[in-house]
Amino acid sequence: MSSRTLTTAAFIFLCTLTLIALTQSVPFIVLHGIGDKCSSQGVTKFTELLSNWSGSQGYCIEIGDGVWDSWTMPLLEQTAIACEKVKNISELSEGYNLVGLSQGTVIGRGVVEWCDGAPPVKNFISLAGMHAGIASIPFCKSEWLCVLLDTLIKSEVYSSYVQDHLAPSGYLKIPTDISAYLKGCKFLPKLNNEINSTRNSTYKERFASLQNLVLIMFEQDTVLVPKETSWFGYYPDGAFDPILPAQETLLYTEDWIGLKILDEAGKVKFINVSGNHLQISQSDMKKHIVPYLEDEASTQMMRSETSSYKWLSSTWNFLLELVGFSEDIPLLHTMD
Ligand SMILES: *[C@@H]1O[C@H](CO)[C@@H](O)[C@H](O)[C@H]1NC(C)=O
Ligand SMILES: *[C@@H]1O[C@H](CO)[C@@H](O)[C@H](O)[C@H]1NC(C)=O
Ligand SMILES: *[C@@H]1O[C@H](CO)[C@@H](O)[C@H](O)[C@H]1NC(C)=O
Ligand SMILES: *[C@@H]1O[C@H](CO)[C@@H](O)[C@H](O)[C@H]1NC(C)=O
Ligand SMILES: *[C@@H]1O[C@H](CO)[C@@H](O)[C@H](O)[C@H]1NC(C)=O
Repeated sequence: MSSRTLTTAAFIFLCTLTLIALTQSVPFIVLHGIGDKCSSQGVTKFTELLSNWSGSQGYCIEIGDGVWDSWTMPLLEQTAIACEKVKNISELSEGYNLVGLSQGTVIGRGVVEWCDGAPPVKNFISLAGMHAGIASIPFCKSEWLCVLLDTLIKSEVYSSYVQDHLAPSGYLKIPTDISAYLKGCKFLPKLNNEINSTRNSTYKERFASLQNLVLIMFEQDTVLVPKETSWFGYYPDGAFDPILPAQETLLYTEDWIGLKILDEAGKVKFINVSGNHLQISQSDMKKHIVPYLEDEASTQMMRSETSSYKWLSSTWNFLLELVGFSEDIPLLHTMD
């Protein structure tokens, strides 16, 4: 063969690989946080940027009407809706990646654990998830009205009325009121398989079969108390101190949901980024989220194919950064 035909053959071969990359890329979904909606500027841009950078199709899944329902619809119901919607999108039927924002992360975990008949979730990327619960209602800080509201809610939080009308009550776990929590809280105890009499091994099986679990914690997070809940860390039962790392909680040591299996297989990435709740910079998005949304089969193929491709792509990224794709500004200014 002449060198020209060889070059042509190589060219066609590379084009074919590119085609495969385009047709095989794994889509992803975004589940937004509380007080937000898919059509808000922050969520729209977030989804679009991830889609543009990864080359994968992204879908923001809306639950009910967005803002209002995110606050008032019980999380079991929100999860059931997300589950139906996911099953209804044919592009996801071969499996998909999931990006959860705050409250969206626990809804996403519900979809992984108990959405029967849904396609598998491959990579699960969690931004500021309250995985082990929160010990304070996430809306008010200091004003007297807020303090009053907070007190009122806390005293009644595990009543059916509050459970049925205020979504965050589904993951409020007051460390000094664990028995009421286990009895009255309708969402998190189920999600975390906390109650041994109703523990469901299917949840564990499904969660443990994730390819990667990326847990992003925001270092200045003032909304999640404690912020370590984003890494499955929490207070011990009965006290507000100390904050136990995930590995010292019962959820992990008794492995109620498969977190330990995932961790021991090296599949859990504990990421710590600077910023308050959900204020992720574009460079951190590229570094910690995008790699999990790129199609692993085709990128592996490409990488093993030619080293000059690797060189080309890093040069290309460098050029993109030069022309201003590297702003280090927070993206999501949601109230969640
Ligand atoms: C994503 O890419 C499309 C097409 O190139 C472009 O129109 C859009 O502005 C990009 N989105 C963002 C948020 O940069
Ligand atoms: C599923 O898709 C069908 C057809 O596109 C639509 O009519 C139906 O409302 C969808 N269901 C849900 C739960 O989104
Ligand atoms: C466990 O959860 C799965 C998934 O939702 C469900 O199909 C199954 O019936 C549950 N098993 C029990 C014993 O509740
Ligand atoms: C459930 O937990 C309680 C208290 O930790 C324990 O006494 C009991 O033996 C457990 N039951 C099962 C079935 O594991
Ligand atoms: C997060 O990172 C900061 C600085 O990079 C460090 O000081 C802090 O201890 C880290 N937090 C945890 C929980 O590792």
